[in-house]
Amino acid sequence: MSAKVFSASNIGLTSHLIEVEADISSSTTAFFIVGLPDAAVTEAKERVRSAIKNCDLPFPRTKVTVNLAPADLKKVGPSFDLPIAVAILAAKKLIKLENKDQQSLFIGELSLDGSLRPVAGVLPIASSLEKLKIKRLYLPAANAQEAGLIEGLEIFPVKHLRQLIDHLKGEQLIARFKKSPLKITGQENKTIIDLNHIKGQEQVKRALIIAAAGYHNMLMIGPPGSGKTLLAKALRDLLPPLSFAESLEVTKIYSLAGLLPPAQPLIIARPFRSPHHTSSGIALVGGGSFPKPGEITLAHRGILFLDELPEFPRAVLENLRQPLEDGLITVSRASTTVQFPARFTLIATANPCPCGYATDLEKPCRCSPMQIQKYQKKISGPLLDRIDLQVAVPRLNMRELTDKKITTTTKNFSEQIKIAQEKQAERFKNLPWLYNSEIDHKKIEEFCRLDMESEQLLKTAIVKFQLSARSYHKILKISRTIADLEQSEAIKLQHVAEALQYRQNILQ
Ligand SMILES: Nc1ncnc2c1ncn2[C@@H]1O[C@H](COP(=O)(O)OP(=O)(O)O)[C@@H](O)[C@H]1O
Ligand SMILES: [Mg+2]
Repeated sequence: MSAKVFSASNIGLTSHLIEVEADISSSTTAFFIVGLPDAAVTEAKERVRSAIKNCDLPFPRTKVTVNLAPADLKKVGPSFDLPIAVAILAAKKLIKLENKDQQSLFIGELSLDGSLRPVAGVLPIASSLEKLKIKRLYLPAANAQEAGLIEGLEIFPVKHLRQLIDHLKGEQLIARFKKSPLKITGQENKTIIDLNHIKGQEQVKRALIIAAAGYHNMLMIGPPGSGKTLLAKALRDLLPPLSFAESLEVTKIYSLAGLLPPAQPLIIARPFRSPHHTSSGIALVGGGSFPKPGEITLAHRGILFLDELPEFPRAVLENLRQPLEDGLITVSRASTTVQFPARFTLIATANPCPCGYATDLEKPCRCSPMQIQKYQKKISGPLLDRIDLQVAVPRLNMRELTDKKITTTTKNFSEQIKIAQEKQAERFKNLPWLYNSEIDHKKIEEFCRLDMESEQLLKTAIVKFQLSARSYHKILKISRTIADLEQSEAIKLQHVAEALQYRQNILQ
């Protein structure tokens, strides 16, 4: 006696169809799960056995074999509990699966009492069902809203295994999930650090606005206590929320990582991740024997804030080079190669030397030239070249510190950023990128056209500062954003001149 149902498994953000077959034969009592299961899948045996018993149904006392096909694909996590239970009950003829249920997808973790727990990775599965040619989905009730973000699916929210058994028998049907308007809580626009409360540092604030308007990477260098961390954190409140398409992209990642709060099925606030410098390479870029997304992927479409950049191990920082360029990370393991999206904006801070005062005009620096060189070398040239805006954050003098004048607020700046982003959205309407920092190098000259005098200025700067081709492109893109902030379609001399200020290496 055997039966088969469908389930699905994610490898990276790609979902694969898994056939869950159960076979019951009349030899001695045994229960096997085969098909490359990990520990959590193997432990399904205990959960499924108890859940079936707690639904007042007999668990087979003979040999039960469950096969998860294709056999060469690794299966992880507890989401196979539900399809395994259904396949066993169908093989034992305790339920009869109609054709449409055989063409459905089952996912869910079982508790010992038979109730269903939410699982990770539902949104990536739901969004690939069309490709897998499946319409019907049985899943834990707590995951229904998440799957409901995808149009055109028949979703059946299940609270308890007993409820599903009654439904499959046709005794008491489960009501199909009906979409209600999303109530999104905890993501209201609350300003935590208002730029208004940060004194002075007008040039750094200006660079922050540019960074936020076009999603350009930025490095702030200055002595301790000058407000670098504070300024970077203020950026969080400056960013416009995600568009719906971006929200879906980000929510899929958080769903896969199991970081989606149940009460909040859609992430609308731009991610702001600030991993500590003791984080491992895998935690930062993703990986593990079954590759999981790292911080750079969790920061997709948002900010990756690396405070005290030189404190991060150099090898870890070098891993950022590919994603900074391509907007994705490829994680290769013996069994699989997985790609995760990683289009983040890097915001970093650094002291100029171990004591912190090498760039201070008044306070003497206590480091030797060797120490300064060694410290600054921790940030490699190739990494520095990928950082669009490099700004000095000087120590505030007494007058600036005690100044009571109210400067521009976060709200004013957010509005400027919004307008600049609307211009970009219009310009890139039918193109594969969204913001100025993403313009493809082949198209830069088309979108960042310069007049004669701006071009002459840039040519002089290339020779004088020995700028790389990458720097040249970055200056053009920053100039584009500066022009957008001024709502100017043409890039003018003053825009290029300002952009050039942010590319003069402060670190030697
Ligand atoms: N420009 C500023 N305006 C107001 N307070 C500031 C400013 N810069 C620094 N501070 C104060 O100093 C503290 C330390 O700043 P922080 O950003 O942590 O410095 P850094 O990261 O450069 O070492 C802040 O929490 C804040 O209280
Ligand atoms: Mg700091």
